[in-house]
Amino acid sequence: MQIGLLGYGTVGKAFFALCEEQSSLTIKTLLTRRPRNVDCAEASDFADILNDPSIDIVVEAIGGIHPAYEYISSALRAKKHVVTANKAVVCAYYGELVRLAAENGVCLRCTAAAGGGIPWLSSLGRVARMDRITALEGILNGTTNYILSEMTARYAEYNDLLREAQQLGYAEADPTDDVEGYDARRKLVLSVNLAFDGLLNEQDIPCVGISRVTAGDVAWARERGLVWKLIACAERKGDAVGAFVCPTLFPVTTPESQTNGSANLVSLYAERIGKQSFSGAGAGGWPTASNVLTDCLEIAGGAPSFYSDRPAAPLSVDNGEGVKTWLFRSYGRYTVREETAADAFEAYRAVLEVDPRALIAHLPYGML
Ligand SMILES: NC(=O)c1ccc[n+]([C@@H]2O[C@H](COP(=O)([O-])OP(=O)(O)OC[C@H]3O[C@@H](n4cnc5c(N)ncnc54)[C@H](OP(=O)(O)O)[C@@H]3O)[C@@H](O)[C@H]2O)c1
Repeated sequence: MQIGLLGYGTVGKAFFALCEEQSSLTIKTLLTRRPRNVDCAEASDFADILNDPSIDIVVEAIGGIHPAYEYISSALRAKKHVVTANKAVVCAYYGELVRLAAENGVCLRCTAAAGGGIPWLSSLGRVARMDRITALEGILNGTTNYILSEMTARYAEYNDLLREAQQLGYAEADPTDDVEGYDARRKLVLSVNLAFDGLLNEQDIPCVGISRVTAGDVAWARERGLVWKLIACAERKGDAVGAFVCPTLFPVTTPESQTNGSANLVSLYAERIGKQSFSGAGAGGWPTASNVLTDCLEIAGGAPSFYSDRPAAPLSVDNGEGVKTWLFRSYGRYTVREETAADAFEAYRAVLEVDPRALIAHLPYGML
């Protein structure tokens, strides 16, 4: 199969190198804004790829929403398969892109968009075909996991570690999407849509990041044998979904607590097969490109148009049932409350009005 590759950055470059070892895949044309001197045609105009009937798969590795959306949607309309690592564009246009792939009889694959190098979305698709997935939960953002792991290991302050993560290339110059939980939330939306055959609106999911976690919070947790993690989770509730992204405290002995650095760990719960967990590199050129390559090989092997061919129905967020345990910290005082997620996040918003540094955490094991 012949590929049109868009972008030659961290993911595109690693994918290019991996493809050179494959006999069934050839990169015919690279879309690039400057000469790259690679062993294939180079184009600065996407039309050169779109209008080339010999190109079967478009691999999008430029990132962002525009022009990635225009390139992906026009490629699907032109009956070319699409593989992308871009969670932002798939999350924003999920329903439309899945529908376009099905209508045009081509595949849309985005395994690298959630979990980087972990075969998470492809595994969700596999399980969703044979079982009923009831819940998802995990560490889906490597930047925040790196910062929290180092805060735990070194009792360092958040701002110092954010600067360090930026110097090491683990965090973007503008870290907002990662540290405020938006990146994890987009990956959760992709996972939920696929696992629960739905269409969830990103903004409906309560999302609290790690920027208010202090060295004092880490020390407080350590004294109680607990470790901070940023968790994205969702569970089925009839036609709705209970879902949130929130700092969460785990006992030191749990697999989540022992997932350090930029690694990811994510689990699914299904009615018949029970719990399955997946861990590994959530980012990085080689791991991410490996998933992009696997998607291309699956397409070459005749994969279905999307991971799940079941119709996607709008899903709403309902956090109003099921009492959970929450920790609030305001003006240096820690309080534990038992309430629904809806009540807890509403109460937290009110607390933030008086103390902008206040923190909320989920205590999944109901301890304290
Ligand atoms: N890096 C990771 O570990 C990772 C993990 C999971 C998913 N992803 C996703 O993978 C995608 C790519 O990420 P990346 O880290 O590889 O980004 P990157 O290193 O910034 O590379 C992006 C590449 O796309 C090119 N580009 C951007 N806009 C373009 C346009 N309009 N036309 C042609 N080329 C364009 C850039 O060219 P210039 O060099 O000319 O700017 C650059 O070569 C993103 O959606 C990201 O979220 C990345």
